[in-house]
Amino acid sequence: MITESHIDQALESLFEGLTFSGEPATLYDPLRYMIAIGGKRLRPKLCLTAYGLYKDELNEGILDPAAALEVFHNFTLIHDDMMDRSPLRRGVPTVWKKWNTDQALLSGDVMCIDSFRRIAKAPAAVLSDVLDLFSSTAAQICDGQQLDMEFESREEVAMSEYMQMIGLKTGVLIACAAKMGALIGGAPQEDCDNIYQYGYQLGLAFQVADDYLDAFGDEKVFGKPIGGDIVENKKSWLTTRAMAKADEGQRQSLLAAMQLEVTSPETRLEKIQRVKDIYVALNVQEDAKYEILRLTGKAMDAAASSLSGIRLETLRRFADRLVGRTQ
Ligand code: IPE
Ligand code: IPE
Ligand code: MG
Ligand code: MG
Ligand code: MG
Repeated sequence: MITESHIDQALESLFEGLTFSGEPATLYDPLRYMIAIGGKRLRPKLCLTAYGLYKDELNEGILDPAAALEVFHNFTLIHDDMMDRSPLRRGVPTVWKKWNTDQALLSGDVMCIDSFRRIAKAPAAVLSDVLDLFSSTAAQICDGQQLDMEFESREEVAMSEYMQMIGLKTGVLIACAAKMGALIGGAPQEDCDNIYQYGYQLGLAFQVADDYLDAFGDEKVFGKPIGGDIVENKKSWLTTRAMAKADEGQRQSLLAAMQLEVTSPETRLEKIQRVKDIYVALNVQEDAKYEILRLTGKAMDAAASSLSGIRLETLRRFADRLVGRTQ
């Protein structure tokens, strides 16, 4: 086992060492910016945690792939912020806002390529499996992001469609992080599969929490503008659940509120308030908290199929922290 504080220290020095030097410097400025502004670094942490269930020491063969997960994640965020027209992330301007969309596009591309370079440093014995896992995950994220965008122009999506969409855009990368750690750590196939399921269910819980915080979080802690999903007509967990729960009158009010055009800071606030009032009337914010716990329970069931004792406890601690997140 590798202790949590050892993993935290390793991550600290890992990201300090990611300098992204290259020419033209302007191409690499957004990469340096994204890594410097940090974030929770959940995915590399999960990868190293899963690896630590099977090994006692960290080395390049795991650290480079763990860094790749974070670099890739940051690439998806740069492009996601353009697609979602988000002005703020981690409490600071997003790349397309600080520079421009052309720069965000290309810097995102170079970050994606960089992540594959780092993945290729996985130990030769598991390299082919690791590359398969990473590249299929990357493609699935594009599928999920496309569905997320398509849902914006739909009045309603079924909960099963929503779950499939978040599984693709968010679940698979967290699942991939967990499985990759286990795989490089030399875990048996069955453990790898159960740990993947643990990560996947945790990823679903994580996205439901993200949707909840987008409407009900504290902007200063969350680092993203509250109400962004409502303004963009995202079919979040809250919207999806509200539509399923609403009577005909509430359904019409929600549709009308979602169709409000945002043309000024005042209409923005009005739209957000009207949608949130319906959420609160239907109590879907409380349902979301229950759903996060339910999905985390499923994650733990999957982990318990392969692990017990201190190793299971380690994954439980990781899950508990994620459930209680406010940022
Ligand atoms: C944001 O991910 C995108 C989602 C999948 C919800 P994180 O919440 O992990 O973002 P950072 O890296 O900590 O900023
Ligand atoms: C993000 O979903 C998923 C990916 C970046 C692949 P969101 O659009 O909800 O993430 P945030 O809220 O912008 O971080
Ligand atoms: Mg998005
Ligand atoms: Mg977004
Ligand atoms: Mg979000």
